[in-house]
Amino acid sequence: MDMHKPSGFRDYLISLLIASALTVFFGCYLLIRRGYFFDAPPTADMLYVPNKAIVGVGTVLLAFAFLIGPIVRYFDRFDKWLGYRKEIGIVGGFLVFFHAFISYFMLPLKFPQVYLTFDSLPFAAGLIGTVLLLFLFIISFKRAIDLIGASRWWFLQRWGLRLVILFTLIHVYAMKWSGWMKWLKFGGGTPTAELANPSLAGLGILVMLFVTWVVIVRLYESIFVFKDFGLVTKEIAMNEQLKARGRRFFISSFWVLLIIYFFVLTRWMW
Ligand code: HEM
Repeated sequence: MDMHKPSGFRDYLISLLIASALTVFFGCYLLIRRGYFFDAPPTADMLYVPNKAIVGVGTVLLAFAFLIGPIVRYFDRFDKWLGYRKEIGIVGGFLVFFHAFISYFMLPLKFPQVYLTFDSLPFAAGLIGTVLLLFLFIISFKRAIDLIGASRWWFLQRWGLRLVILFTLIHVYAMKWSGWMKWLKFGGGTPTAELANPSLAGLGILVMLFVTWVVIVRLYESIFVFKDFGLVTKEIAMNEQLKARGRRFFISSFWVLLIIYFFVLTRWMW
């Protein structure tokens, strides 16, 4: 495998373009749902809503970096996406750092620092995820591959990202699950100054549906395609039959994801 790419500049440019497009899209969605972006009502911080857009994009990019492997393995025409994986992951990681910084230092009205302690499972999981991201960033430089050795480097990158995603699931599900269930069962109630359109699903639900689907695709691959979790480094030979099995699951589960999106988005529309 070619690990030494000639230049990452174009790949960063494309990753930044994808991140910008997603930011505009999520920002518009949040603007419609909340009724404001920066000019929050007095009960919320100025960066309350921007922070949601930033972390939504960052988390989707990290999950997408995690999905590029299966996409490239199952579908011939997406081979060149492999070249963007690292840059997409790094841009996503930076946005998540930004989220951690904003959440800790700049949202005193909504999330005072006294609540962000290690007694809080969501906070502890988020912080561990952030430290892991920092570690992955440090060893992402080409020189690290030579220093660590290629096979150990691949092992650390693979398991590092897997753990980041695991801690993200804990961080967000522990924090938001009961609120999401309440919204699904009873709706969002009447509009308030902080939330103009409670009938629209929170961005977090939509983001985490995608992350969860990506995790299921990867778990299916490890259990039913490779029958191997990559605990030790091992080259896995992909034959046509395995490829077709992975592709079938990828496509059918994607349809299920779209149906769930439709259900969630239209839940309180009428
Ligand atoms: C790997 C690292 C992290 C990831 C991927 C991550 C991701 C997320 C995601 C997806 C949400 C859901 C937003 C929503 O439902 O609207 C969220 C919310 C939140 N995160 Fe993190 N986070 C990470 C680390 C941290 C850290 C270190 C902190 C604290 C300093 C933190 C504080 C928060 C807070 C306070 C919220 C609630 C925001 C809100 O509802 O407006 N996160 N995070």
